[in-house]
Amino acid sequence: MTGSHQMADGKSLLVLGGTSDIGRATALRFAKAGSQILLAGRDLVTLQREADDISARTGATISPHSIDILETSSFAAIVDGLPYLPDTVVCVIGLLGDQAQAEKDTDHASAIIHSNFVGPALLIGIFAERFAARGEGVIVGVSSVAGERGRATNYIYGAGKAGLTCFLSGLRNRFGKTKIRVVTVKPGFVRTRMTKDMKLPGRLTAKPEQVADAIYRAVEVRPRDVVYVKPIWFTIMTIIKAFPESLFKRLRI
Ligand SMILES: NC(=O)c1ccc[n+]([C@@H]2O[C@H](COP(=O)([O-])OP(=O)(O)OC[C@H]3O[C@@H](n4cnc5c(N)ncnc54)[C@H](OP(=O)(O)O)[C@@H]3O)[C@@H](O)[C@H]2O)c1
Repeated sequence: MTGSHQMADGKSLLVLGGTSDIGRATALRFAKAGSQILLAGRDLVTLQREADDISARTGATISPHSIDILETSSFAAIVDGLPYLPDTVVCVIGLLGDQAQAEKDTDHASAIIHSNFVGPALLIGIFAERFAARGEGVIVGVSSVAGERGRATNYIYGAGKAGLTCFLSGLRNRFGKTKIRVVTVKPGFVRTRMTKDMKLPGRLTAKPEQVADAIYRAVEVRPRDVVYVKPIWFTIMTIIKAFPESLFKRLRI
């Protein structure tokens, strides 16, 4: 199917990962600005609760939709089953996992790589084709600075995010002269369920609402290609990437 969806009534957003703190904040930010919202994820009960809450606070029309990012063969039918093709798709689905476990457990490593790269890239790729047929659309992928250099403590997650960042960069290049935009978001540290057990440095840590606002601005206010939610992370990663491998392999940063 390409293009037989109904039109949404006004602006519209699909959040892939609607149960995440960043996804929920993003849905709320766009709903406050008047968008209709499709909330997708694997936990329909929680999604319905989120949808009811955001709808009560904003008056927006919000519907929950079931998707498991590991079930790649279901993607096309799920996209075709949406009530409309949204203006903007934001993918926040991801899995931090446990690096030490993943080093020994191939199934866990596979889940991390598939949840951060294979699934999101294939799903985003389907939306890219639908947007190409329509002639416009915005794709936002939430990736990570962890994908900019492999580190001992999180290189399996980081490799997944590196793959996603590269995929988004390629899509952006493919659609560079069209009305289809692709935005890569690198949040740095964010205080969410994913990081609840970590001690995070305050100055380097964003709130989910700040990530949501950065996404909203990159889509609706000032178009951007790559967004570092806290700009200091661009400087940090420039320095981290500048270390030669011979030195970097001796460091624990
Ligand atoms: N927090 C940070 O410091 C940070 C930094 C950089 C990038 N990020 C990225 O930001 C995004 C959002 O993360 P978050 O911090 O808001 O953490 P989170 O609450 O753990 O969000 C992860 C989201 O991915 C969903 N998900 C995981 N596996 C899935 C599957 N198989 N099928 C469908 N959905 C699945 C989760 O759904 P369930 O609710 O069903 O588990 C949840 O909605 C992730 O991509 C993460 O890598 C986070």
